[in-house]
Amino acid sequence: MERLDKFLCDSGAGTRSQVKAILKAGRVTVDGIPEKDGSRKVAPETQVITLDGEVLGGKRRLVVMMNKPAGYVTATEDARQRTVMELLPKEWAHLDLKPVGRLDKDTEGLLLFTNDGDLLHRLISPRQEVPKVYYARHEGQAGEADAAAFAAGLTLRDGTVCRPAVLEPIGPGESRITVCEGKYHQVRRMMASRGMTVTYLERRQEGPLSLGDLPRGQVRELLPEELLALAVK
Ligand code: URA
Repeated sequence: MERLDKFLCDSGAGTRSQVKAILKAGRVTVDGIPEKDGSRKVAPETQVITLDGEVLGGKRRLVVMMNKPAGYVTATEDARQRTVMELLPKEWAHLDLKPVGRLDKDTEGLLLFTNDGDLLHRLISPRQEVPKVYYARHEGQAGEADAAAFAAGLTLRDGTVCRPAVLEPIGPGESRITVCEGKYHQVRRMMASRGMTVTYLERRQEGPLSLGDLPRGQVRELLPEELLALAVK
């Protein structure tokens, strides 16, 4: 059971003060009977709640993909810097979306958001080996010895040991890197441990999901088949 006014806010009916006015105006019904008391306890799973005659479904589960631009920190709030939350459409503000993992301020590319706590924990769990594919531009040239060191499991400059990863040189100063974990600045530090400074980094894939042609700075809901691939029920 939850308060009717909270349910209305979570359903996107409006802000707390807007919801107060909506209730006062008699625009809400619970099981067909007009209700003006926001403190009333309701059970949205079993009761039918309407606003202006339309049934409200409560806080819907949402999983979205962003093509993150550089210059935004992955955080729900920050006192000084712009956050990725600013790039989400305003109409999703009440849905309580959280970033899944993080990308550095200067890293671009695929960043997921969800309000599904179970999915969030499953995707960021260290036990769950979700492969993430990055495109990097860097100083120097990656070679076979670097690829072998990645495959064996690198030891970073501070002694941190990484899981085996894949380094594929794809051009002069360009590589594709696949990692199955998400340590702080992981790809930049892995490359630095081999003497290559990363100058540009973009995440292109996460598990079964690809950035595709989603424009930079844009967000879209995952398609049903993508949810299926993530085993979201
Ligand atoms: N590795 C990094 O170094 N930075 C990111 O943002 C993601 C992976």
